[in-house]
Amino acid sequence: MPDQTTARSTQASSLDEPTARRQTRLTINGADYRVDVETRATLLDTLRDDLGLTGAKLGCDMGQCGACTVLVDGEPMYSCLLLTVEQQGRAITTIEGLAASGELDPIQRAMVEHDALQCGFCTPGQALAMKALFDRQPHPSDDEIDRALAGNLCRCGAYVKLRAAARALAGR
Ligand code: FES
Ligand code: FES
Repeated sequence: MPDQTTARSTQASSLDEPTARRQTRLTINGADYRVDVETRATLLDTLRDDLGLTGAKLGCDMGQCGACTVLVDGEPMYSCLLLTVEQQGRAITTIEGLAASGELDPIQRAMVEHDALQCGFCTPGQALAMKALFDRQPHPSDDEIDRALAGNLCRCGAYVKLRAAARALAGR
């Protein structure tokens, strides 16, 4: 067992070591990016700090609120829990990708028409969670809507209106 002096000096030297970096190619909203990132960088940090894609929000930073939601190969994921270096070869969609042509996506239009937001902090994540749902199930039940949005918290309590927007999209 190392004595405490050895353990402390080992820890100090590892803290002094430069953090490993890696060139990583990302495909975001259909465009290719090459970034030089620390291997510990989260996808959320890379999107916001390196690429200026600030639609994904930093809330809890621990996989509990959904504010950082992006789509990875069509599935909603918490980008605060994903390492950037592990996202090569995956198709990432951020909220910026939904209105890339300058026109709001039908999901976004429905959210606006039903006033399904207040402060807007959770809104990008809610929209992407909803997009993932409607891409795989165009006519979801109320239960499916609730389950699809369950991972995205809204501190303003816009749930009733979010559900109204989703029901309208589902044709009800
Ligand atoms: S910031 Fe990622 S889940 Fe809250
Ligand atoms: S609209 Fe404010 S947190 Fe959802």
